Amino acid sequence: MSVTTKPFFSYEKITATADYIRQQTSHQPKIGLILGSGLSPLAEEIEPADYVPYDDIPNFPVSGVVGHAGRLVIGELAGKTVLVMQGRSHFYEGYSMQHITLPVRAMKLLGIETLVVTNAAGGINSNFTAGDLMLINDHINMVGFGGSNPLSGPNLAEFGPRFPSMTRAYDRDLKALARRVATEQDITIQEGVYMSLGGPTFETPAEIRFFETIGVDAVGMSTVPEVIVANHAGMRVLGISSITNVAIRNPDSDEETTHQEVLDTGKIIVPKLIKLLKGILTEI
Ligand code: HPA
Repeated sequence: MSVTTKPFFSYEKITATADYIRQQTSHQPKIGLILGSGLSPLAEEIEPADYVPYDDIPNFPVSGVVGHAGRLVIGELAGKTVLVMQGRSHFYEGYSMQHITLPVRAMKLLGIETLVVTNAAGGINSNFTAGDLMLINDHINMVGFGGSNPLSGPNLAEFGPRFPSMTRAYDRDLKALARRVATEQDITIQEGVYMSLGGPTFETPAEIRFFETIGVDAVGMSTVPEVIVANHAGMRVLGISSITNVAIRNPDSDEETTHQEVLDTGKIIVPKLIKLLKGILTEI
């Protein structure tokens, strides 16, 4: 059986993952950051840094998606010790929900209490434009409606309870801090509900119009599983989306959403996102 089809990871397995990472660095990070498509350049600012390729880490999922570097960068950023995931794995790559969220559990075992998640997302709110940042206020776990929740299966009580609350999945204090830092730095930040889909297809215009009706502001293919597992483990979460494209509502449109567009706009947003994240880290 290939590792990608194994649905569950025991506490011992996750401990082995965390132990390996601990042996690769003398840093003791308290904050974890997950960087989405095209957002890798932030990790280049970490200095001094230890690099741990995902390929070398026991049980770690490895992303093959263009724009995802595939390594941990552990070190100092804005005066804080951080562990950065330079690239993440996705459900659409064939990994189980438990597998794509294993890195978050490993972070918890490493002593990380705060998780900052970023992603590239399509803007559904008609006030959004490509190039915007969006503070994630709440989420809709669309994939979970079909039963694919990363907490399905035996509950690992070492991490948290069987039925965790998701009322404040995104920490109120961290959201307030992000708004304040954005204002101080003169960065416009949108705010809204992020919905995760399984991907890898982009949405049809009919789906976009449906999502708009149910209160979705931005849509993507990641983040929610990681946020659920982090909340289960009692971690504080901050989420920021880069709006890399605006969703298309008309099936007869000449426009089209492409991965290239996502990467290209991601590059333009990166300096603004780096500035915001560094400001938040400084004050966290
Ligand atoms: N849809 C889903 N995922 C995405 C999009 C989108 O429009 N843009 C970036 N990730």
